[in-house]
Amino acid sequence: MRDALLTVRDLKIYYRTLYGYVKAVDGVAFELRDGEVLGIAGESGCGKSTLGNGLVLLKPPMKYVGGEAILDGKNIMALSQKEIKRIRYEKISIIPQYAMDALNPTKKIRQIVDDLLREHNSSFEEKRELIEERLAIVNLSKKVLNMYPIELSGGMKQRLVMVISTLMNPDVLVADEITSALDVSTQRSVVQMLYEMKEKKAMKSIIFITHDLAVLYQIADRIMVMYAGKVAEIGPTEEMVRNPLHPYTKMLLASLPKIGVRFVNERLKGIPGYPPNLLNIGPGCRFRERCPKAFAKCEQDPPIFDLNGRKVSCWLFERGDER
Ligand SMILES: Nc1ncnc2c1ncn2[C@@H]1O[C@H](COP(=O)(O)OP(=O)(O)O)[C@@H](O)[C@H]1O
Ligand SMILES: [Mg+2]
Repeated sequence: MRDALLTVRDLKIYYRTLYGYVKAVDGVAFELRDGEVLGIAGESGCGKSTLGNGLVLLKPPMKYVGGEAILDGKNIMALSQKEIKRIRYEKISIIPQYAMDALNPTKKIRQIVDDLLREHNSSFEEKRELIEERLAIVNLSKKVLNMYPIELSGGMKQRLVMVISTLMNPDVLVADEITSALDVSTQRSVVQMLYEMKEKKAMKSIIFITHDLAVLYQIADRIMVMYAGKVAEIGPTEEMVRNPLHPYTKMLLASLPKIGVRFVNERLKGIPGYPPNLLNIGPGCRFRERCPKAFAKCEQDPPIFDLNGRKVSCWLFERGDER
């Protein structure tokens, strides 16, 4: 088994609001191995972006409440401001959800890149060769460097942010919903470009966040399914898709549209109900209200059961195999 690059244990990140805490990431644990693409899936609102953003750019109203995330022997959730500045971007970087809207509209791309690199003791000139090489991977002409963000299409900005966020060759790249605004064929090419960047060592490992399991199937080595701020299940992609264990993973997979099935003949199986409100949420399995298999024990919080490398947080697996 490959070594862990990032080890997350019992991580809690809440939002402080007028009405109490929104427990958006509530006791999450996983390992990101050296060289792997770890996919994070789950319905909208289950805490994926909070986890990704919290690891890289924790800022109010997010509040780090407990647990740890160890990168290079250090808990990156509890660093001095000076250390945080160095580690973010250089060691762990993010392509945030809606990244394309984040580029400063008043500056040319070259200037945006230079400003960012100067904060990390480098410069545009120093990285010129690398920048041009990476632009070529994502199929952008170096002419974009002399353009303003408004002159680029959404897809071009998306690919540009892929390049900018990885110029320091971080160990870990968090990619948050980078394919969600794209049509299916563009999704494919963005996934391929990201993969090529990884082959060329632009980053060691990727945390690839998406609500779209079909995209994860193309790129992820392992998949972690989140539900309502917690980990439901983690396992190798192929096994997760062929043999999902957690009732939520099963329903998530069953809700994917299939080729050859017509809606009029067989209704798509959506998951009935909604995820719970994460504000002041109490104990017990958070999926129990929507779960067809819920039983008395589910009133208690399920721990994560380890079944030969497959991890599942569901009382059905307390004795190893399904009850
Ligand atoms: N700024 C915020 N203040 C309060 N609650 C928030 C804030 N941002 C997100 N949340 C809540 O945190 C939960 C997780 O959201 P998010 O991490 O964006 O989920 P996902 O990325 O899986 O769609 C949701 O219940 C959402 O309403
Ligand atoms: Mg999100």
